Amino acid sequence: MKLWAGRFQNDTSALMDDFNSSIAVDSRMYKQDIQGSIAHAKMLAKCGIITAAEGTEICEGLMSILNDLRNGAAALSVDAEDVHMNVETLLIQRIGEAGKRLHTARSRNDQVALDVRMYLRDAADEIVALLEALQSELLEVAGLNVDVILPGYTHMQRAQPISFAHHLLAYCEMFSRDAERIGEAKKRINVMPLGAGALAGTTYPIDREYVAKELGFDAVCLNSIDAVSDRDFVLEFGFDLSLVMMHLSRFSEEIILWSTTEFGFITLDDAYSTGSSIMPQKKNPDAAELVRGKTGRVFGDLMGLLTMMKGLPLAYNKDMQEDKELVFDSLDTVAMCLRVFTDMIKTMKVNEDAMLQATLDGFLNATDLADYLVTKGESFRNAHEIVGQVVVACEKQGKRIEDLTLEALQEFSARVKPDVYEAISIENCVSRRKTSGGTAFDEVRKQLARLRGTSIENGKEI
Ligand code: ARG
Repeated sequence: MKLWAGRFQNDTSALMDDFNSSIAVDSRMYKQDIQGSIAHAKMLAKCGIITAAEGTEICEGLMSILNDLRNGAAALSVDAEDVHMNVETLLIQRIGEAGKRLHTARSRNDQVALDVRMYLRDAADEIVALLEALQSELLEVAGLNVDVILPGYTHMQRAQPISFAHHLLAYCEMFSRDAERIGEAKKRINVMPLGAGALAGTTYPIDREYVAKELGFDAVCLNSIDAVSDRDFVLEFGFDLSLVMMHLSRFSEEIILWSTTEFGFITLDDAYSTGSSIMPQKKNPDAAELVRGKTGRVFGDLMGLLTMMKGLPLAYNKDMQEDKELVFDSLDTVAMCLRVFTDMIKTMKVNEDAMLQATLDGFLNATDLADYLVTKGESFRNAHEIVGQVVVACEKQGKRIEDLTLEALQEFSARVKPDVYEAISIENCVSRRKTSGGTAFDEVRKQLARLRGTSIENGKEI
């Protein structure tokens, strides 16, 4: 018999039961559901709404259910619709009358909001930990590659030479903000809704602050209708997860490009590549491609959440049951992607010769030649024009700028002196960009130290 069957004369159809049931999705919140119910029961007893003996009986019953669910001695069933009614049904089966008092001063509407908030605050910590693990791997690889030079690109065209570590640390900054954002979202997740009842609050003399404290919440929801109506905290988290995926996806795209024969900047480990069923020579970057592809699902989950909420009148509507499937899918996807991505980075091989080789063609030192002319007194706008002509001439002759003789260069500007070659060497193009946050090797070392939580004094990291 359903817990809400009192006013029903006939059974719901099996098809409807199937359609209505959320247990396949929300069963993963059983721990939170039971913890929430224990705090609620303790509060009911403390406030004299149930007796102390009933309170103890309920808490013990719930603890035994928790244990049995953990070790498989008890199971949740589709018949009881969702995790909340499953736990309550099990409790009543185990302890009888006292179990029927648990749901006093509570509705599934505030209960589900509580469970989701508890589940998401733990998930937030888990995702942040995974982001930190990825960052420490990136710091590790960056540390080994400060002096490795590769082309930096704009418009996917070779632009200026940069340190490979600098490139990796750019992602580190993005993942830092992702983690920070999730921490911010957690503040809004960690607010306690219980006591809102179905929507209007409750007639019983409950103690919401006590429950909040018991369950480790920072605050209580201040409007009972809001407490059961909104899922903005789910959406916010969904957006933060989407940003993580957006960053991972861009990085994946680069990994895929870098591992092509055309680039050859990195070689992925066999452990994170796959083969082709027909082409024996193939080694494909499937891990990175899947991360890029799964980004679509996480964005889709967010769109689903936004759309699901947009037309709902206050307060609770069953539409909101859909929130969990979407956000759980995002969480599972992001967690898996972060794990795989971290290992893929850890095991990839950096081909520094190919990276350096790629900086030689494409006039990556053209800006530096213009800057050189400026140091000799030319205006930047004129210098830009002059170097543009140098590049055209080089293209015609199939030469690099540094291949031109001093005399040839002086035909473009009399300001060119023999020190020009040093000024436009690829290594100097990197090492002279000393502005804070720039690509100069020493600057990159400083960035690395800051991200590692150390600092540099007299050239030494401390
Ligand atoms: N399974 C429901 C959900 O996930 C729980 C709340 C149901 N409340 C209700 N009044 N039907 O949203």
